Amino acid sequence: METSVPDFVPVANVTEVPDPGSMLVEVGDRLVALIHAAGRWYALDDVCTHDGGPLSEGPIDPQERTIACPRHGAKFDLATGAALTMPATKPTVAHEVKVEGERVLVRIHDST
Ligand code: FES
Repeated sequence: METSVPDFVPVANVTEVPDPGSMLVEVGDRLVALIHAAGRWYALDDVCTHDGGPLSEGPIDPQERTIACPRHGAKFDLATGAALTMPATKPTVAHEVKVEGERVLVRIHDST
Protein backbone atom coordinates (compact mmCIF):
# COMPACT_ATOMS: atom_id res chain seq x y z
CA MET A 1 0.00 0.00 0.00
CA GLU A 2 1.33 3.42 -0.91
CA THR A 3 1.23 6.33 1.41
CA SER A 4 1.34 9.72 -0.22
CA VAL A 5 3.79 12.23 1.13
CA PRO A 6 2.46 15.76 1.08
CA ASP A 7 4.34 18.32 -0.97
CA PHE A 8 6.21 21.33 0.31
CA VAL A 9 3.93 24.36 0.08
CA PRO A 10 5.22 27.94 -0.17
CA VAL A 11 3.95 29.87 2.85
CA ALA A 12 5.99 33.06 3.13
CA ASN A 13 8.84 35.17 1.87
CA VAL A 14 12.00 35.11 4.03
CA THR A 15 11.73 38.87 4.56
CA GLU A 16 8.26 38.56 6.12
CA VAL A 17 9.41 36.96 9.38
CA PRO A 18 12.07 38.70 11.49
CA ASP A 19 14.64 36.71 13.45
CA PRO A 20 13.49 36.01 16.09
CA GLY A 21 9.86 36.11 15.04
CA SER A 22 6.86 34.07 14.01
CA MET A 23 3.93 34.24 11.66
CA LEU A 24 0.67 32.37 11.45
CA VAL A 25 0.26 30.62 8.10
CA GLU A 26 -2.36 28.33 6.65
CA VAL A 27 -1.35 25.10 4.96
CA GLY A 28 -4.40 23.37 3.56
CA ASP A 29 -6.85 23.39 6.46
CA ARG A 30 -4.13 23.58 9.08
CA LEU A 31 -2.95 26.60 11.07
CA VAL A 32 0.80 26.55 11.45
CA ALA A 33 3.16 28.76 13.42
CA LEU A 34 6.11 29.52 11.15
CA ILE A 35 9.05 30.46 13.34
CA HIS A 36 12.40 32.07 12.55
CA ALA A 37 14.99 31.87 15.33
CA ALA A 38 18.79 32.11 15.36
CA GLY A 39 18.97 31.75 11.59
CA ARG A 40 16.79 28.64 11.44
CA TRP A 41 13.21 28.03 10.44
CA TYR A 42 10.65 25.89 12.24
CA ALA A 43 6.97 25.09 11.84
CA LEU A 44 4.68 23.85 14.58
CA ASP A 45 0.93 23.34 14.75
CA ASP A 46 -0.47 26.62 16.06
CA VAL A 47 -2.17 24.76 18.86
CA CYS A 48 -0.96 24.43 22.42
CA THR A 49 -1.74 20.93 23.67
CA HIS A 50 -2.76 22.26 27.08
CA ASP A 51 -5.82 24.23 26.07
CA GLY A 52 -5.43 25.30 22.47
CA GLY A 53 -3.44 28.51 22.94
CA PRO A 54 -2.10 30.12 19.73
CA LEU A 55 1.62 29.31 19.79
CA SER A 56 2.39 31.78 16.98
CA GLU A 57 1.62 34.59 19.43
CA GLY A 58 4.00 33.37 22.13
CA PRO A 59 7.52 34.52 22.97
CA ILE A 60 10.45 32.76 21.31
CA ASP A 61 13.71 31.93 23.06
CA PRO A 62 16.33 31.48 20.29
CA GLN A 63 18.95 30.17 22.75
CA GLU A 64 16.71 27.50 24.19
CA ARG A 65 15.06 26.94 20.81
CA THR A 66 11.64 27.13 22.44
CA ILE A 67 8.38 28.97 22.05
CA ALA A 68 6.09 29.59 25.03
CA CYS A 69 2.32 29.46 24.91
CA PRO A 70 0.90 32.97 25.42
CA ARG A 71 -1.90 31.61 27.66
CA HIS A 72 -0.23 29.76 30.53
CA GLY A 73 3.42 29.67 29.48
CA ALA A 74 4.06 26.03 28.56
CA LYS A 75 7.24 25.78 26.49
CA PHE A 76 7.63 23.71 23.35
CA ASP A 77 10.78 22.60 21.55
CA LEU A 78 10.91 24.37 18.18
CA ALA A 79 12.47 21.45 16.35
CA THR A 80 10.48 18.54 17.73
CA GLY A 81 7.30 20.08 19.15
CA ALA A 82 7.99 18.36 22.49
CA ALA A 83 6.24 19.86 25.52
CA LEU A 84 9.06 20.90 27.85
CA THR A 85 7.22 22.55 30.73
CA MET A 86 3.88 22.39 32.45
CA PRO A 87 0.99 22.80 32.10
CA ALA A 88 1.36 21.11 28.69
CA THR A 89 2.28 17.44 28.77
CA LYS A 90 1.76 16.34 25.16
CA PRO A 91 3.84 17.40 22.16
CA THR A 92 2.46 19.59 19.43
CA VAL A 93 3.19 18.60 15.82
CA ALA A 94 6.42 19.75 14.19
CA HIS A 95 6.43 20.16 10.41
CA GLU A 96 9.27 20.29 7.88
CA VAL A 97 10.54 23.62 6.60
CA LYS A 98 12.91 24.51 3.79
CA VAL A 99 14.03 27.72 2.19
CA GLU A 100 14.41 28.07 -1.56
CA GLY A 101 15.75 31.42 -2.59
CA GLU A 102 13.38 33.94 -1.04
CA ARG A 103 10.62 31.47 -0.35
CA VAL A 104 9.89 29.51 2.80
CA LEU A 105 8.11 26.21 2.24
CA VAL A 106 6.43 23.86 4.70
CA ARG A 107 5.60 20.19 4.42
CA ILE A 108 2.91 19.02 6.79
CA HIS A 109 3.58 16.05 9.03
CA ASP A 110 0.62 14.27 10.41
CA SER A 111 0.48 13.65 14.10
CA THR A 112 0.40 9.89 13.75
S1 FES B 1 -3.24 26.87 26.63
FE1 FES B 1 -1.09 26.78 26.38
S2 FES B 1 -0.30 26.60 28.37
FE2 FES B 1 -2.43 26.62 28.64
